[in-house]
Amino acid sequence: FSAFLTDSFGRQHNYLRISLTEKCNLRCQYCMPEEGVQLTPKSDLLTTQEIVTLAKLFVKEGVEKIRLTGGEPLIRPDVVDIVGQLRKLEGLKTIAVTTNGMNLTRLLPRLKEAGLNAINISLDTLVPAKFEFIVRRKGFHKVMEGIHKATELGYRPVKVNCVVMRGFNEDELLGFVDFTKDLPLDVRFIEYMPFDGNKWNFKKMVSYKEMLDTIKQQWPELEKLSCEASSTAKSYKVPHFQGQISFITSMSEHFCGSCNRLRITADGNLKVCLFGNSEVSLRDHLRSGASEEELVQVIGAAVGRKKKQHAEPSLMLFPLCQDALQNSPISKQW
Ligand code: GTP
Ligand code: 5AD
Ligand code: SF4
Repeated sequence: FSAFLTDSFGRQHNYLRISLTEKCNLRCQYCMPEEGVQLTPKSDLLTTQEIVTLAKLFVKEGVEKIRLTGGEPLIRPDVVDIVGQLRKLEGLKTIAVTTNGMNLTRLLPRLKEAGLNAINISLDTLVPAKFEFIVRRKGFHKVMEGIHKATELGYRPVKVNCVVMRGFNEDELLGFVDFTKDLPLDVRFIEYMPFDGNKWNFKKMVSYKEMLDTIKQQWPELEKLSCEASSTAKSYKVPHFQGQISFITSMSEHFCGSCNRLRITADGNLKVCLFGNSEVSLRDHLRSGASEEELVQVIGAAVGRKKKQHAEPSLMLFPLCQDALQNSPISKQW
């Protein structure tokens, strides 16, 4: 594996997440204000060609999985073209997307044809009125249709991301478990994380342990499944259900030790940690004519600076530190 993508703690970064746009067609309360985020001028965003050039370089150095994120990646007009070009990269095993599902039914046949092979869809509630409240837009049925379409087109599993927030949807855990009965889904309950002005509050976070307790009361026979070391999710299954459930424990048990991810923001910055700041503008290096070797050096230096973990877990859970957390520099690009 490439020394450039291996950090000083021995973590090999074979998973690259590329944000295609900061824009989104929803306004989830925990993510964006009603007025949206301040947008970068189009000329500062990576072009299709720049995305493919960078992806090629990372794949050559050992990246095997690329996830397209946003904002909402499926509102970028050239998304099908990007997937199609990524598919040609030898060594790339998985091309995935994380989407809010609004445009999925319409685009999925073309995305599949172009080579998309994994889908994660965000859905925090099974109640249409609550959906409209949390995303500040209509669209519940579109997203549901998108989830079904993904299962019909053969995606296995279709991952459904559900951010659990006390007072909003912690009473829907069992409903989401039932959702996995007859569909090949992996419903992933995500611990609510603080970032930049999302009014995160310690009391709104529901921990993995608490969620698991609630579910086990109804389903004592819940089985734990094994998972890959670098996985962000701990998975379980109700015997005889078609799908499974998982927990993403970013807050109560972070997974920094096995982190294998790097990120490129829509404007071409490399980020070595979700919670960290941008390390370097790959776009600027590309546009000033850097050679492949020079780019690899720059990337390697940033990976070399990656910290062991984002914060002390005890600090993350200590209520008096909430002010500090409110100012954490997590961006709205995933
Ligand atoms: P897979 O590639 O299918 O494993 O998906 P994923 O979980 O890596 O990505 P997804 O885009 O579906 O994100 C779901 C949730 O995972 C997010 O809400 C985050 O809570 C969490 N997550 C993703 N990447 C990171 C990361 O690098 N660090 C931390 N702490 N959490 C992450
Ligand atoms: N905490 C946890 N997960 C979040 N997501 C967005 N905001 C938060 C947050 N504050 C989820 C989205 C999407 C994924 C990329 O991250 O719901 O599924
Ligand atoms: Fe890795 Fe940073 Fe995510 Fe921790 S928070 S798992 S170090 S990217």
